[in-house]
Amino acid sequence: MTTSIGRQATGRAIGGEDDTAPMTGRSRFLAAAQRQPTDVTPVWFMRQAGRCLPEYRALRERYDFLTVAKTPELAAEATLMPVRRFGVDAAVLFADIMLPLDGMGVPFRIEPNVGPVIDHPIRTAADVDALRVIDAEEATPYVMNALRLLQGELGERAALLGFSGAPFTLACYLVEGRSSREYPRTKALMYGEPELWHRLMDKLTQVVIRYLQAQVAAGAEAVQLFDSWLGLLGPPAYDAYVLPYTRRIFSALGGAAPTIHFSTGTAALLEQIGSAGSDLVSVDWRLPLDEAWARIGLDQGIQGNLDSSLVLAPWEAVEAGAKDVLRRAGGRPGHIFNLGHGILPQTPAETLTRLVAFVHDASGSAAGADDGPPRQLLR
Ligand code: CP3
Repeated sequence: MTTSIGRQATGRAIGGEDDTAPMTGRSRFLAAAQRQPTDVTPVWFMRQAGRCLPEYRALRERYDFLTVAKTPELAAEATLMPVRRFGVDAAVLFADIMLPLDGMGVPFRIEPNVGPVIDHPIRTAADVDALRVIDAEEATPYVMNALRLLQGELGERAALLGFSGAPFTLACYLVEGRSSREYPRTKALMYGEPELWHRLMDKLTQVVIRYLQAQVAAGAEAVQLFDSWLGLLGPPAYDAYVLPYTRRIFSALGGAAPTIHFSTGTAALLEQIGSAGSDLVSVDWRLPLDEAWARIGLDQGIQGNLDSSLVLAPWEAVEAGAKDVLRRAGGRPGHIFNLGHGILPQTPAETLTRLVAFVHDASGSAAGADDGPPRQLLR
């Protein structure tokens, strides 16, 4: 099966050669992911299919979370909900970072308002050695089938985005057994038993590579690596214990599809993150977007970075925040608008619908031309 870039846009070509046809959600997202000019700034939200949507809550009254995630028709339905309601330019597969554990032989459950729970965490050499690395189609066929279903459903409306947890964040859950503030057992294993840590990270890296490659083969047009808890590490630990594995993942994907590297609380690590090899880096709100972009390097794209809590405020505050993000992006090709982390469940859905329209309008009206020199936005 061909990847993203192989699926031809019915509108404008992704490379931007055809200036006559209007861009679609899909072509605009994929162009930005390749740092090509776009008509307006593409936008999507992490956790866009979650509990902020009444239609998602209704679905969850009938089925539990893992049933939705593991039934391709239901996962596809949940994936499409935010595309229909918000008009976002990317559809992120409804799944969870924990699903690849199915194939590794680690039972887990998702507890409401707690998150993933593993009754027998991975803490000894025997635990690590028992982890299996198997084919992703065999381990998680429902993920690949959901992607195949969605590829047909989405058309030009939105790009199809796959994702995986990154080895470090997966290790946090595997070793700790559940969500934690500091993940002390995980860090104790990392610092105290480095040889075992590297064996665990090596296995997780192999699983993540297979999982993402299989998603691209099944129709994912871009993939995001979620390293949500990376902000727990300082620069030397990141270099020694995590970065080589992240590099291996982006290098193995090698241009098969655009890649986005997500983390939060990592202002101290941005240069290193920029060296990991993704096409785009997703940043949170703890640094202004222009400053973060300069530190990552303008040869990479950037995603973000409105404060996920700002969308709980009255519209005037949301609009001011969104304007500031767009101004700092400066209309430079390669910006994908997003929040700095996932949508909070209490977020009003209407605010997000309005925000997507605002980002499209504000970036488009200030655009002038969508080729040539950077658009000067909202100055
Ligand atoms: O973005 C999307 O819309 C796609 C779906 C998605 C989910 N989880 C669905 C989900 C994605 C991309 C994830 C990734 C994920 N899962 C991450 C990385 C992103 C991040 O926010 O940092 C992490 C750390 C997890 C682990 C996890 N799974 C947590 C912390 C929780 C929340 C627990 C809770 O109830 O607050 C989950 C469960 C989960 N995953 C839900 C959803 C919609 C809520 C479950 C429900 O419907 O009850």
